Amino acid sequence: MQPENTTSPTRRRIMFGLAASGVALGAGAVGLRLAEAARTADFSHPAYAAWKKAEKAGLSDIEYMIVCAHLAPSAHNIQPWHFAVDDDMIVIHADLTRNIGAADPDNRQLHQSLGCALENLIVAAAHLGYRATPSIPEGPIGRQSIRLAVKLTKDRGAGATLPEGMFDAIFARMTNRGAYDLATPVPVPLRAALSGGITDDLVIGLADRGSADAAYITSTMRMAARDVVADEAFFRDSMSWWRVDRETLYAKGDGISLHTSEVPLVVKAGLQTFVSDEAWFGDFGRQGEIDGVDGVVGTTPLWGVIASKRKGLGARIRGGRALERIYLEATRSGFAVHPLNYAAEHPRSADVLTRRFGFPLEGEILSVFRIGKGSPLEPSPRRPWRDLIV
Ligand SMILES: Cc1cc2nc3c(=O)[nH]c(=O)nc-3n(C[C@H](O)[C@H](O)[C@H](O)COP(=O)(O)O)c2cc1C
Repeated sequence: MQPENTTSPTRRRIMFGLAASGVALGAGAVGLRLAEAARTADFSHPAYAAWKKAEKAGLSDIEYMIVCAHLAPSAHNIQPWHFAVDDDMIVIHADLTRNIGAADPDNRQLHQSLGCALENLIVAAAHLGYRATPSIPEGPIGRQSIRLAVKLTKDRGAGATLPEGMFDAIFARMTNRGAYDLATPVPVPLRAALSGGITDDLVIGLADRGSADAAYITSTMRMAARDVVADEAFFRDSMSWWRVDRETLYAKGDGISLHTSEVPLVVKAGLQTFVSDEAWFGDFGRQGEIDGVDGVVGTTPLWGVIASKRKGLGARIRGGRALERIYLEATRSGFAVHPLNYAAEHPRSADVLTRRFGFPLEGEILSVFRIGKGSPLEPSPRRPWRDLIV
């Protein structure tokens, strides 16, 4: 068993940021970058508007359900979905053009992301007084087009099936990649609720900090981070969703960035100013990923792993639903969630974890996530939901 790393990720990142100041740009570019870095987030930008729609205000029920669905988490914030409306039915179509290439070769993460959107849609439907009946495509994984049709039936009692705060959590939820408070354990009722979304074809494993299983996940995660950044194609395709400056983040309304991390503003500004784009996409970015993972794994009170018993499209979508349910359960209890999937993405570490937890070999690891008490961070952007209706 390896000891867990308790160095604060923030400190590590500061040290790393300083060590990397050799990656400086020319004077003119530095001026421009300083100006950009000095700008704080503009949450009045349309890319953040949907997070404020906790009131339905002027939208139809169906439009509001689509707003809720598109606020769902997705791997790398790819938002791989379109929505079609057909009478009493909303159809979520997979947008396979938004896959992560070598970082998600058979769309495992994309499929789960669709499940996350489906879960939000079903929760929103219940809140608005509808029973939502989804048709989930089953069968082997292929490159087939995917449609998740959700039939809506008016049912005034539907809202009563929702635990308190579950709907509001759609708007408060975020991925929290920061350090979690090790002095605050995950309370027993929340632990019990985490398996509430798990269906018969899925399994969930939980591992507390200090346990042999947690130490195993931690060291496997560290190994996986090193394996994936060393994989040229994986790293390139993963980084194609990295948004360096705010302008690009706002304009694209997707992807991942430094801005949603808990790196202090001054360090963010320094990194933005002195680190060139080429450096982000090269060794600097690689080392940053490794340091980031090494830092946060040590600040995790509870780990969770979701696996399927048999590999298949339906199980992946239900795995995504379960993951989003976990996010919402944690959010409504004031806790944070962070999927950290390197260990699921790299075959060597996925195999190691499958055997360690005794998960069925015919299945696959779907998600590995951290859960704990974190400090609120910046929300992530979304593309305009109206543009996603086909
Ligand atoms: C299937 C899936 C896999 C994910 N894997 C990771 C991961 O490995 N590392 C990470 O930091 N975030 C991961 N995330 C979180 C996404 O990056 C996040 O949902 C997205 O950037 C949108 O941000 P939000 O959740 O704050 O709305 C994952 C999310 C999903 C749905």
